[in-house]
Amino acid sequence: MRIVHSVAEFRALRPSLGHLAFVPTMGNLHAGHISLVKAAREHTDQIAASIFVNRLQFGPCEDFERYPRTLDEDAAQLEDAGVGVLFAPDEQEMYPSPQRYHVEPPIEQVSILEGEFRAGHFRGVATVVMKLLQIVQPDIALFGKKDYQQLMVLRNMVSQFAMPIQVVGCETVRAEDGLALSSRNGYLSADERKRAPQLNAELRKIRTAVLDGHRDFEGLQESAAARLDSAGWQTEYVRICRRADLQPGNAAAAEEARVVLAAARLGTTRLIDNLEI
Ligand code: PAJ
Repeated sequence: MRIVHSVAEFRALRPSLGHLAFVPTMGNLHAGHISLVKAAREHTDQIAASIFVNRLQFGPCEDFERYPRTLDEDAAQLEDAGVGVLFAPDEQEMYPSPQRYHVEPPIEQVSILEGEFRAGHFRGVATVVMKLLQIVQPDIALFGKKDYQQLMVLRNMVSQFAMPIQVVGCETVRAEDGLALSSRNGYLSADERKRAPQLNAELRKIRTAVLDGHRDFEGLQESAAARLDSAGWQTEYVRICRRADLQPGNAAAAEEARVVLAAARLGTTRLIDNLEI
């Protein structure tokens, strides 16, 4: 595997890479990230990945400084998984001057769910992913459904800017107890880690209830949030949404494809999860 730190070097390499799949990450890789690489192998044998902890998508009080940076271990995992080129720029290379152009996703996509609690987050994600896609020029880009709203925003961006890239969404990889794998799980204490699967358990209860015909979506959302809060979480949202645009689910619509999404803090760690219904 080649590790490339500069845009110029990646550019020079790109023509030799042919039909290329791309997995962007912020590093500290786990089996969830590696599942994206495995999914990429079903499309092509040339795979690029990137590792860049993107300051633009972190709020001023978020964990940018303490976000785990583990490049050597990450590179070894990517190489084992079959990645041919790793793009790992430093901040100076990605943002040589203050980033004054931004990609601003549509307000109705970013004023809800994660966007409601993380102002400016998706603007930072869209801006860096636009830039990474311009550098890497992949034919296929893969993202996890773990970050469901991110996948929707990026799919929409690629479509609206007519970028010649196929966006592939991949299923969430979980620990045996249901907890979605996340780099942020490493912040949990041993006790919090034991309690963390409750988030997924509440989503499964909601999915079962909706599939059983329960139509009081507000009630289901509120009782899940109340159970989390009384178990010591600070719930930000639990919402049953339409899959297509993540607007509130319509309980009266029989055929609607839905997804239930949640974000909650356990101690100082903010966790998100979702389940398609
Ligand atoms: P990061 O959190 O490192 O995630 C990189 C990719 O891995 C994303 O597409 C994410 O959805 C996927 N992923 C994370 N956990 C997963 C899991 N348990 N199962 C399946 N896929 C999982 O998401 C980002 O980085 C950044 O916002 C990025 C897109 C790289 C832009 O900076």
